[in-house]
Amino acid sequence: MATSTSHRALSGSRHSPKRHSQSGMDINSPPCQKPKPFTCIGRGTCGTVWEVPESNIVYKTGKDAAALAHDLNLCRNVHAAFLRYQRVVDKEFGGAIKLPLVPAGHEFHRPARNDGEITRNGFWASNLHRFPAGDESSPTSHTAAISLTRIHSLPLRLRSALIDFYFDPDLFASPTSRARGAADHCLTRLYLGSNDYESWFRTFASQAPVTVHGVTQCMAAGLAVMHWGARCDGMDVEWVLGCTAQGVIKPFILDFDKAKKFDLDEEDVVKKLLGGVLGNDPYFPVEGRLHEKFVEVYLKTSKAILEEEENPKALTLSQMFVKAWHEALDRRREADAAEDDIFEHQAEAVEDSGGWNDDEIDELEGSDANSVCSSDINEVK
Ligand SMILES: Nc1ncnc2c1ncn2[C@@H]1O[C@H](COP(=O)(O)OP(=O)(O)OP(=O)(O)O)[C@@H](O)[C@H]1O
Ligand SMILES: [Mg+2]
Repeated sequence: MATSTSHRALSGSRHSPKRHSQSGMDINSPPCQKPKPFTCIGRGTCGTVWEVPESNIVYKTGKDAAALAHDLNLCRNVHAAFLRYQRVVDKEFGGAIKLPLVPAGHEFHRPARNDGEITRNGFWASNLHRFPAGDESSPTSHTAAISLTRIHSLPLRLRSALIDFYFDPDLFASPTSRARGAADHCLTRLYLGSNDYESWFRTFASQAPVTVHGVTQCMAAGLAVMHWGARCDGMDVEWVLGCTAQGVIKPFILDFDKAKKFDLDEEDVVKKLLGGVLGNDPYFPVEGRLHEKFVEVYLKTSKAILEEEENPKALTLSQMFVKAWHEALDRRREADAAEDDIFEHQAEAVEDSGGWNDDEIDELEGSDANSVCSSDINEVK
C-alpha cells in the first residue's frame, strides 16, 4: 500500500455535488461573491490536479495538450465500459462483485492562443485568477486542462490510521502536525502485490468496510473490463481507495495518459497487456491464493464479456495473456533468485578476502551513520 497524498487541506465529503454545475461554479452563490481559489491536490509528470472548491470536479492541467486530450478520451472510454459491463458482472457473480469506479471525463480546454486570449476569452480568462499565483504549476498561455469527476479524500479516521501505519511517530507527534497531516487530500494506492498488504488490511479492517478478498475480486473484474470491455491496456493507471461524493469508501481507477488502446492480435495483447501489469506499481497479487482468486475472477469476467460480444477469438487472447503473465512472473522470480545468489557469493568473497563479517556490519550499523565517511570505507577495504 502507499498513500497518494498532496499538498493542501481538503474536506471532500462535505461538499454536495447537487448544488453545483460541472464548470465548478456554485450556481447558488450570489453573483457578486468572489469564486474561491483552486487548491493543488496532486502532481505528476503529465499534469497538476486542482480541487475546485464546492464542486464535484477537479482540473488536471499541463503543457502537453495531446497527452491530456488522450487522458480524457481514454478515461471517458473506460468510464463508459465500466457502466456498461457492471450488469454483466452482476449476472456472472450474482451481484457479489462491484466494479471499481472510474471518474467521468468532462471537458477539454485547449491552451490559449496568446496572452491576450488567456486574459480576455473563454475558460482561461474566467478561471486563471483562481489558480495560486506563486505556484510553478499554475497555468500559462501554453497550458491545457481537462475536468474530471473528483475522487474525494478518505475519511479522517482512515487518514489518521494511515499516518500511524506509514510514518515515524515523531513526525506527527504534536496534535497540530497530526491534524495538518490528516487534513491533506488522501487516497491510498491498493498494492496487493506488495509484501505488507496483509498487515495493511488487518490495520484497516476495523476502520473501513473493505476486505482483501473483496478488493481482490473488485480489481480482478475491473482489469478484465478495462481489457476486454474498453480495450485499454491499463498502463500506469492508479488503483486507489478513495471516497465518493457521498462519503462511501470505494476502489477507484485514475490517470489514463500513458494507457493505450490495443488491437485484438497476439503481439499487441502480449506486449501491451503485459506492460500494463508488469511495468506498473505492484497493484495486483502475484502469488498464493490471492493471485489464484484474482486470475479466476479475471478469466470469468473476461469470458462473460466476450461471450456477450460473441468474440471467441478474444476469449483465447484473454487466456493467452494470463499464460504470458505467469511465464513472465516465473522469469522474474528466477532472475530475482539468480540476483540473490550473486549477492550471496559476493558477500562470501568479501568475507574470504578478510572483508567485513556480520558482527562488524552490525557494529557499524549501531554506530552513528554520519561518522562513517568514504575514507573510512576505503580504509576498511
Ligand atoms: N479525479 C481525481 N480526483 C481526486 N484526485 C485526483 C484525481 N485525479 C488525480 N488525482 C490526484 O492527483 C495525483 C496526480 O494525478 P495523475 O496521476 O492523473 O497525474 P499524472 O501527471 O498523470 O501522474 P503520473 O506522473 O503518475 O502519470 C493522483 O495521484 C491523485 O492523488
Ligand atoms: Mg499519468
